[in-house]
Amino acid sequence: MKPVAVLGTGTMGAGIAQCAAQAGYSVLFWNRRSESVEKGLELVRKGLERLVKREKLTREELDATMERILGVSALEDLKSASLIVEAVPEDVDLKHELFGRLASICGEGVVFASNTSSLSITQLAARCGRPDRFVGLHFFNPVPAMKLVEVVSGVATSDATVAAATEFAEKLGKVAVRVRDFPGFVVNRVLMPMINEAANTLMQGVADAQAIDECMKLGCNHPMGPLALADLVGLDVVFAILDTLYREFGSPHYKPSPLIVKNLEAGWLGKKTGRGFYTY
Ligand code: CAA
Repeated sequence: MKPVAVLGTGTMGAGIAQCAAQAGYSVLFWNRRSESVEKGLELVRKGLERLVKREKLTREELDATMERILGVSALEDLKSASLIVEAVPEDVDLKHELFGRLASICGEGVVFASNTSSLSITQLAARCGRPDRFVGLHFFNPVPAMKLVEVVSGVATSDATVAAATEFAEKLGKVAVRVRDFPGFVVNRVLMPMINEAANTLMQGVADAQAIDECMKLGCNHPMGPLALADLVGLDVVFAILDTLYREFGSPHYKPSPLIVKNLEAGWLGKKTGRGFYTY
């Protein structure tokens, strides 16, 4: 089996690499900075340790899984990959640059996939020169715990590319749902306005953060409240998605809450910075 590659070694990249290695794939785990590759491998190990603690994985299986992941920092090292899943920060120029370079490194048969949650798959595809081989593979956080993957087809994505992406997601034990490329796809288009409304409800002093989250957990049976979820996802990511929805649909309905903007200005991005709506 040819290896798969994961670009980006943050929370999402590490989660995807972990799931792919657990499913038996050889994984090329890329970040242009070797220190970040090391940090990413630590994240994967932590994710697997969690399973060992819960007796869902043996220590031998953990070691074997880690051995299937090779950390790399040169794009040329990804030449042999059959599928490349990109999970780098939501910077359109960065993604264009990476896919542009990979188009000249990888063979014709490679499938390019992006885990983007706020950028257009059609636009990313058009600029990489292989639009038919480009697809969205949208995972959810925390990746090992979340069953869904949105398989997003841009206007030029071929059925064969969708089939390859679907097969990969299913081999990871996920449920793949095909959706069309439209801002926010399905989940974020529905979820982010709820998070935004929770932030506005907090800003207007209707209730405090704990009370708002308690209401949504107990009143709607959500596993966690919208403000805790925003902290888990990251307020920078929440903002980027809302901003896309706001610009693309032109509706004030999606305007990011001033409270989310203030938190961003303060550098309070949620769990990853130790403070968001809550302090960690
Ligand atoms: N990493 C790996 N696995 C994790 C995990 C983590 N950080 N957190 C929890 N899990 C796993 C646990 O191992 C456990 O698995 P098993 O049942 O197989 O043992 C399962 O999830 C349940 O975990 P816990 O009992 O410890 O905790 P919980 O019941 O409180 O669940 C949760 C934690 C899974 C995070 C749950 O609260 C939840 O589902 N929250 C909602 C998450 C969500 O909505 N994510 C989507 C965000 S939107 C997004 O990601 C898209 C985007 O583009 C921004």
